[in-house]
Parts: sequence; structure tokens; C-alpha cells
Amino acid sequence: MTHSLDPYRLLRPLIFQLDPETAHGLCFSLGGLAQRLPGLLPMLQGVCGRPEPAIARPVFGLPFRSPIGLAAGLDKGAQLLPLWKALGFGSVEIGTVTPRPQAGNPKPRVFRLPEEGLILNRMGFNSEGMDVVARRLRYRPAGLVVGGNIGKNKTTPEEAALDDYRAAYRVIAPLVDYVALNISSPNTPGLRKLQAPEALGPLLAGMLALRKEMGMERQALLVKLAPDLSSPELDATLDVLAASGIDGVIATNTTLDRGIVSEVNRAKVEALGEGGLSGRGLKLRARNVQLRILQRLPPQIRLVACGGIGSGEVAARALQDGAALVQIYTALIFEGPLLVRRMNRELETRDFF
Ligand SMILES: Cc1cc2nc3c(=O)[nH]c(=O)nc-3n(C[C@H](O)[C@H](O)[C@H](O)COP(=O)(O)O)c2cc1C
Repeated sequence: MTHSLDPYRLLRPLIFQLDPETAHGLCFSLGGLAQRLPGLLPMLQGVCGRPEPAIARPVFGLPFRSPIGLAAGLDKGAQLLPLWKALGFGSVEIGTVTPRPQAGNPKPRVFRLPEEGLILNRMGFNSEGMDVVARRLRYRPAGLVVGGNIGKNKTTPEEAALDDYRAAYRVIAPLVDYVALNISSPNTPGLRKLQAPEALGPLLAGMLALRKEMGMERQALLVKLAPDLSSPELDATLDVLAASGIDGVIATNTTLDRGIVSEVNRAKVEALGEGGLSGRGLKLRARNVQLRILQRLPPQIRLVACGGIGSGEVAARALQDGAALVQIYTALIFEGPLLVRRMNRELETRDFF
């Protein structure tokens, strides 16, 4: 199906009439219905969900059908895994999941900026909590790599963060293929401080000790970084990661920098208040971080590139830079679910696989 025949082009103006969280809820209800209608997913899978074997790749000892993954935050509660698989994703990162359920920040807390290809969000880890998500993970489809992105509850003091990550890990890790520690959301006060060496060293030591205790040394543990560290801060963080024994880095999360918005829209965005920006304008900033990671970390620590990736070309460039995998979120909102198929097709034309 060519771009011009994509039904999302027609539906998008209607969907965008709704506020982002209402639209999200509606799409998830429809997605849930689609998963229950007999025959629909196999049909969708036939059209979209069979990436060519040429773009499959083993990473972290896991069989990724495609290097394109769904980034954390869209399917926080692991509700639509069969649908993501049918759309052609190689992997889905569920979460961020917190140990205890929490509501997140007051609404409205997500805003679209279509002319910029950006989203501003200050969700603040709305999470059903690990036990509810764990129940859903027991029924996950085969053939889709599922990562579990975990974080701390807002009310947990910063000095007790490790307890929350360990609690979530104990419940989620046995049900997923890899675990990502989210220490880079800008919407949980103090969370990003966990990236500083003094906090990061003990956090990783504690998590790796738990992984060993649970006999899960073979399961990959990843860390998700922000794009907003200064160069010396990033290097210091990377040096801790290099020495730690973790398996991968996801770069990046959303940015606090309003400078990625064009000047004409800057005042408008500032009026929306706090939150992290994602999408097109994040690409350059995220890539700078990705290139530094590739330079500074040993090659056995694999990079998952995320941030402003919205086409097969951009995904291919990230992979050629040296990323093992890529993840998308905001582009899916603006381009629609058939984007995954288009990106897979574009990668299939590349000869570097
Ligand atoms: C509405 C929204 C919610 C998000 N929630 C999470 C989250 O819970 N955990 C997380 O690690 N990242 C979260 N992210 C960040 C994305 O996973 C991703 O790192 C970021 O959006 C950059 O990628 P993109 O430009 O392709 O969107 C969220 C992003 C958006 C837009």
C-alpha cells in the first residue's frame, strides 16, 4: 500500500479533533476490539506483519524479526501486544511500569504540535502497577520481543529508588525478554539525578546483583538515557555504564529543551507548561548522544536508538551509525500504524543487512 492510500491520512484530522489522551483511549479500545475479532489480526499480519527475514537480527541473544521497535510509554500496560506484532514491529517495550499503581500528573498532560511533528508530555508515569501488568504479560504472543521498562513511584524518596526498581524487576523481569531501567523521564521529580555517577553506580550494582540472585544473568539489562546531559555529564555517565556490566543503552528519552521548537511556535509551547518534547526536532539532539555512546562505550554494550526517528531512511542511518535497534513513538502518532510496514520495506531495500 502506498503512502497516499493509507487510510490514516483520512482519519487523522478526525482523530486530531480529540484531545490526545481521549484519542489514545479510543484507539486502544478499537485496538482491543480488533484483537478479539476473529480473523482480523491474521489479515493485518498478512498485509503488514511479515518483515522479510533479511532484516531480522539477533541482539541480546533475542530474535528480533525487525529492528523497528515500539518505544516505551505508548503501551504502558501491555494491552495490545498481538496488534503491535501484526503491524510488523520486531519488539515492543511495555511500561514504564511502577511497583504500585499511580495516576500520574493531572490532565491535560499531553499535547500535539502537528506542524512541528512534536509531542509535549508530562504524563508522570501513570501506571496500573506491576501486578496488573504482570497478569497481562502471561498471555503474550510468540514471535515478538517484549521489553519491560520499569521506574519508581513518585512518592518513593529518591534515596529509596533502588528498592522500587528491584521490586518492579522481581515481578516484571521473569515475564519479558529484556528489562530497561528508566532513569530519564523528566516528569518524575529527581528521576534524572539517577544518571549521575554517584547514584548510577550503586543503582546498577544493586540491579545486577538482583539479576544474578534470580539466576537471570543471561537476560539483557538496559538503561534509558536523557538527551539533556551536558557533554561532561554524559561522558561521566557513560564511563559508569562501561564499567558496570549492563548490556545496552536506549538513547534517548524526551527533551526539556524548548530550543528544538521553531521560533514561531516557541511561545505557544512555553505556554503549555512543563514536560518533555519528542518527535522530529529531537532527532539531531538524540543522534549526537547516540554517536557519543557509540564512540565511548565498548561494542558489546548495544545501542537502541530512539528520538525523532520517523522514516525508514532515518532508521537506516541510525543502524548504519552502529545502533543495534531503533524505537519509534511520536512518528507513529503523526504517520499512523502503517508507518511500521513502510519502514520495514525501506530497510528491506538496504544491502547492509
Ligand atoms: C506521551 C508519551 C509518553 C511516554 N512515556 C514514556 C514512558 O513511560 N517511559 C519511557 O521510558 N519513555 C516514555 N516516553 C518517551 C519515548 O519512549 C521516547 O523515548 C521519546 O518519545 C523519543 O522518541 P520519539 O521521538 O520517537 O517519540 C514517552 C513519550 C511520549 C510522547
